[in-house]
Amino acid sequence: MKVTILGASGGVGQALSLLLKVRLPIGSHLSLYDIAPSMLGVARDLSHIPTEVKVTGFTGEDPTKALEGANLVLITASAAFTPTSDRSELFTYNASIIKSLVEKIAVTCPTACIGMISNPVNSTVAIAAEVLKKAGVYDKRKLFGVTTLDILRAETFVADLKSKDVSKVKVPVIGGHSGITILPLFSQAYEQVKLQFTDEEIEKLTKSVQDAGVEVVKDKAGTGSATLSMGEAGTRFALAVLKGLASEDIVEYAYVEGDGEYTRFFAQAVSLGRNGIEKVLPLGELSASEKIAFESLIPLLKAEIEVGEKYING
Ligand code: NAD
Ligand code: LMR
Repeated sequence: MKVTILGASGGVGQALSLLLKVRLPIGSHLSLYDIAPSMLGVARDLSHIPTEVKVTGFTGEDPTKALEGANLVLITASAAFTPTSDRSELFTYNASIIKSLVEKIAVTCPTACIGMISNPVNSTVAIAAEVLKKAGVYDKRKLFGVTTLDILRAETFVADLKSKDVSKVKVPVIGGHSGITILPLFSQAYEQVKLQFTDEEIEKLTKSVQDAGVEVVKDKAGTGSATLSMGEAGTRFALAVLKGLASEDIVEYAYVEGDGEYTRFFAQAVSLGRNGIEKVLPLGELSASEKIAFESLIPLLKAEIEVGEKYING
């Protein structure tokens, strides 16, 4: 399997590359691209780690060579971080970067699965879908917004609060990847058995998951956003997609185009297989407060999706 990372010399890209270099199956190929010339040094650095994963690095204006034959493309390319930028402000800078990279994917590896990490995910996934559609190669089973970090955070916070084994805690997180569009379903959280929470605990936990990215930005004091935890989240996501492509049955949460029941793109559980998404799974029962939160996030998420669609279609 060949995994390509676009934007691999950045904070997320380097953490993700490192973890994939040590965790991809034997015989895989990790292909790294970034417009920053430091990409070549990062690739050489990684290539000295003794695992059976081949690493190649590319820089320059054209990612074609990095993309040739890719089974999975992870996009972490982004404009330089500025302390004032939040996820939606990033749209102004990142829309054109995403458009041009996805245009290259459409031509070079049109059947590859794509994991969109670059923010604002709620809108960049819509950009990617519209670019692929225009090129006549859109397959909704293969385009994913990576929301795995929200799941990791929800599971970690619950394990801490309830003193549980984090590797066994499961918490669905649905909706999108910004502010109140991130909706953790603590009513469905379990660790072997269903976990119980007070209303106050649910309120606090929900806010912690929704604000987690902003808290990291604040504590990094203007130098960037979450990179290390995103490296782990992106790795978990990538390994799940690759297992699916290798015909293993696996369920993961991601922001995908389902049947449009809620919004065109929606983060939910999907079962993965040889063609990417095999099936979008039901949300399950929501509690009364989750139903209210769900209703409030829909218009916001719709608007953020439209911003992406309009960027391509006018
Ligand atoms: P960063 O600034 O450290 O890295 C971005 C990299 O992209 C840089 O190396 C830059 O040279 C490169 N780049 C810019 N334009 C490019 C192009 N046209 N082609 C190839 N590479 C290009 O940023 P980061 O901290 O690594 O974050 C990357 C993105 O991931 C951001 O948009 C961030 O908001 C997002 N993010 C998403 C999640 C999530 O949960 N989905 C989590 C963390 C970060
Ligand atoms: C995150 O969730 O940490 C990322 O989306 C980065 C950000 O801007 O918050």
